[in-house]
Amino acid sequence: MKDILTLGIESSCDETSVSVVKNGREVLSNIIDSQIKIHEKYGGVVPEIASRNHIEAISRVTKKALEEANVTLKDIDAITPTYGPGLVGALLVGLSYAKALSFAINKPLVGVNHIEGHIAANYITHKDLKPPFICLLMSGGNTGLVYVQDYTKFKMIGKTRDDAVGEAFDKIARVIGLGYPGGPKVDALAKTGAPNIELPKTHIDNLDFSFSGIKTAVINLNHKMPNINKADLCASFQKTITEMLLENTKKAIEKLNVQTLAIAGGVSANSYIRQELLKLEKENIKVFMPDLKLCTDNAAMIASAGFFNFIEGKRSALNLNAVPNLKIGE
Ligand code: KG4
Repeated sequence: MKDILTLGIESSCDETSVSVVKNGREVLSNIIDSQIKIHEKYGGVVPEIASRNHIEAISRVTKKALEEANVTLKDIDAITPTYGPGLVGALLVGLSYAKALSFAINKPLVGVNHIEGHIAANYITHKDLKPPFICLLMSGGNTGLVYVQDYTKFKMIGKTRDDAVGEAFDKIARVIGLGYPGGPKVDALAKTGAPNIELPKTHIDNLDFSFSGIKTAVINLNHKMPNINKADLCASFQKTITEMLLENTKKAIEKLNVQTLAIAGGVSANSYIRQELLKLEKENIKVFMPDLKLCTDNAAMIASAGFFNFIEGKRSALNLNAVPNLKIGE
């Protein structure tokens, strides 16, 4: 089979990223222009500022991605931008750029669901991973359990009823004064503390999650006891949230009788969660995790998901619009 090159374009939040991927699994380039420094002083992503910075970066990042991959636009088989979920203004920059490019060079456009991209990050790291498997999705905007029946066929089998897990990390980090982005900071501080503070766990009958209870408990504790040991608080939060994630993941594995688990999304970079999930291997469950640099937003994972949609025959029209609340498998 002829090699297929997809050009992934990602601008759903605060990273402008463009990547060239070969046959869905081999990364030829993955340029990520992060706006973290710009948004840091506001304590979170400011949507309007994100959009403006995407506009400033998109052409430069695309040029760099093609150069680093040592290819030209002629070599690209499909342009595969993220079209949702995400911040509408931010999404529109990458999507509009991709549509213009597709029209100008007469190459197919294949819109990619950002969540499918996070799952596809696993295909890049693990060349042998094939569906079916269960994916524990943990990002800043989405959390849940996805049954990956095939490369482009998904079923959401459990989702959060309130906060996404990354949102809970970011909110508690802000309240205890760690700043933005909170997840990596909680992860680092937790390593110096002990998980000795009892926090509430929410159990839901089906495979859904709820993280607002634990988030509020941490915020209230910090408020009532300003001198509480912050490292212990982070370690306890991380341990309790991991237990909740594990509990439902095990239930899903049992219910579906699927012995392969993958994880995806920014929070899958968390060192404690990774360490605890790996313990499932002792129970004969194969656990796959993306490389750390592929856990958070990047265009390589989008180009990978784009490839699998492209070979399935999916094509998007030039009137494809951004869908800020795009779902997966529902
Ligand atoms: O998947 P992602 O890059 O963006 C979305 O698509 O939502 O996820 C970003 C989230 C943020 O909430 C960030 O704090 C969290 O991932 N995150 C982490 C870690 N690294 C990133 N959370 C916990 N521990 C980490 N090491």
